[in-house]
Amino acid sequence: MSTSISAPQRAKPGSESTLPDLSNVPLPSHLSSRHARIQDVDGMSSLINEFAAARIMLARGPLYLYQNIQDYRVITIPVAGKETVVACGGLHVLWEDLAEVRSVAVHPALQRRGVGRLIVQDLISDAWQLGAAHVFTFTLAPGFFSSLGFAAVDRDTLSPVVWAECSKCPKFYKCDEVGMMLHFPPRSQEQDS
Ligand SMILES: CC(C)(COP(=O)(O)OP(=O)(O)OC[C@H]1O[C@@H](n2cnc3c(N)ncnc32)[C@H](O)[C@@H]1OP(=O)(O)O)[C@@H](O)C(=O)NCCC(=O)NCCS
Repeated sequence: MSTSISAPQRAKPGSESTLPDLSNVPLPSHLSSRHARIQDVDGMSSLINEFAAARIMLARGPLYLYQNIQDYRVITIPVAGKETVVACGGLHVLWEDLAEVRSVAVHPALQRRGVGRLIVQDLISDAWQLGAAHVFTFTLAPGFFSSLGFAAVDRDTLSPVVWAECSKCPKFYKCDEVGMMLHFPPRSQEQDS
C-alpha cells in the first residue's frame, strides 16, 4: 500500500473550484490561526470540499461545520479587501483521553510554506489545554503529520471511538488513510490543576 501523496494536493483537473484566486495576493509576513466563527463556514467549506472532490479528505457539509464550529481554527488573509479563509483544521474530542485532528486544509497556492504546520501546532496546543492525553488523525499525508510528531499506528490497536466518523466516509470499505497518533508526556499535578 502506498501511503505517500505528493504535495501540493489539488482537486481533479477540470473540476469546478470555488476557491479564491490567490495568484496575485501577497502572503502576509506574519500569519496566525484563530478560532473559527460562523461567518467562516463558507470559506472553510470551499477549502475542505475542494479536497473532498479529489477524494483526499472527507467532505463536510454546512450543517456539520455550523454544529461543530467550536472545533475549528482558521487562518485568514485579506483578499480584495475581504477577510478570506485560506486554511482550516478541526480538533474533535473523541473520548476521555483522545482528541482527533480533522479536516486540515490549506489553499493549494499556499501549500508547503508552513501554513499547515501552524494550524496543526495550534490544534495540538488546544488538545493539551483541553486535557487530552493523545491526539489522533486519519490522513493521506502521513509525512506532514510525522513532521509534527505523529507516528503511524496499527489499525487493530485503535479505539472503537475513532471508527464512528468513518462510517460516513465513501471509502469506508476500502480505506487508504493512515491512522496516526501523537502522545503527550505525562502531566504534572500543577498542569492538571
Ligand atoms: C497536507 C497539508 C495540510 C500540508 O499543509 P502545508 O501548509 O502544505 O504544509 P507545511 O508547509 O506546513 O509543511 C510542514 C512539513 O510537512 C511536510 N509536508 C507537507 N505536506 C506534505 C505531504 N503531503 N507529504 C509529506 N510531507 C509533507 C513539509 O515538507 C514540511 O516539512 P519540513 O518542516 O521538514 O519542511 C496541505 O498540503 C493540504 O491542505 N493538503 C490537502 C488536504 C489534506 O491532505 N489534508 C490533510 C489530511 S486531513
